[in-house]
Amino acid sequence: MFETLPTPKLDGIIGLMQAFAADTRTDKIDLGVGVYRDAEGRTPVMRAVKQAEARILDTQDSKSYLSLAGDAAFLTEMETLLLGGAVPSARVAAVGTPGGTSAVRQICELIAKVRPGATVWVSAQTWPNHGPLIAAAGLTARPYRYLDAEAGALDRAGMMTDLAQAQAGEVVLLHGCCHNPTGVDLSAQDWAEVAALLERSGATPFVDMAYQGFGEGLDADAGGLRHLAARLPEVLIAASCSKNFGLYRDRVGIAMAVVPDAQRDAMAATLAGLNRQSFAFPPDHGGRVVSTILGDPMLRAVWLEELDGMRARVQENRRALANALREATGSDRMGAVAAQQGMFSILPLTEAQVTKLREDHGIYMLWDGRVNMAGMDPSRAGDVARAVAGVLRG
Ligand SMILES: Cc1ncc(COP(=O)(O)O)c(C=O)c1O
Repeated sequence: MFETLPTPKLDGIIGLMQAFAADTRTDKIDLGVGVYRDAEGRTPVMRAVKQAEARILDTQDSKSYLSLAGDAAFLTEMETLLLGGAVPSARVAAVGTPGGTSAVRQICELIAKVRPGATVWVSAQTWPNHGPLIAAAGLTARPYRYLDAEAGALDRAGMMTDLAQAQAGEVVLLHGCCHNPTGVDLSAQDWAEVAALLERSGATPFVDMAYQGFGEGLDADAGGLRHLAARLPEVLIAASCSKNFGLYRDRVGIAMAVVPDAQRDAMAATLAGLNRQSFAFPPDHGGRVVSTILGDPMLRAVWLEELDGMRARVQENRRALANALREATGSDRMGAVAAQQGMFSILPLTEAQVTKLREDHGIYMLWDGRVNMAGMDPSRAGDVARAVAGVLRG
């Protein structure tokens, strides 16, 4: 039956992870995969997570099935974390999912249910998995301009011109914060302008929130999403707890839809039905860790302190690399790296230059020049900058 099955091309990020692991150089640097690393190069289990897990181990007396939507406390806590009361709960339907990836996929399936083949507008540079997830649900991705590569900032005019073409029945995918891969985020004014555009056209926003707390702070990072939710009749949301709770492999995500009250119950049942079709019950352990932390003032304080520390470290890495690049290249061309947000930035490198950095210097980054700022030890910023300056000189 499977004689003709072709071997699919390996996902670029997964291939890069494998190549880095196989590289025997001891001074290699991994700026590829999007995980946070501390000063020792570890991706630790957060203290609050350890404490919550100990509590669950002590008190959990059953692992029987829950509802298709998952743990009710997780859904409620996540609603507050994401929406901060911007809309009444009577307008919110949500289900747990295995990670943010499945949340994106389930929302795409939801769109396909009512609009098969619908257009989903995606920023021209985006998380490499957005395209495949949209296509897997039979939807059609259409790019909108996003990055002004020269300025390392938002191509505001390009974005607004392209999004003005989005129509009712189409969806506009936006990164809630810490845009992956550019690190370029919308200002409050940009969000308001996007909201006004969508209000006029009737196109539906879909916010992917994978890094809440890594940009400016938990509430500030959700400001754009909350503005859309308060202003528009419908907002789709996919969120991940992989980064801000460090629960990567436990697979904790949520798919959410903000709709008018009258459609809320139908939406909740539809999302639950979509879960049933693909994995039935979402994984419980990670979500329970999240609701245990968010529901307990002491654990929440421990978590916030650690999250603040991670954010500060990423910002420090950004400044260190921007300074080192300025010194090594004698120019401020990549100075925007310091002002960008979250884990990622794009360095203005060709694929050939990226290959040379990997082969000659053991520095690993994505083929488009995407670097994980949260993966770099600031003491290696000079090494990275000198190597980058070298390949730029040719
Ligand atoms: C923009 C974006 N969305 C969603 C995800 C999904 O994350 P996960 O499935 O690991 O929770 C990621 C992870 O890198 C991401 O960058």
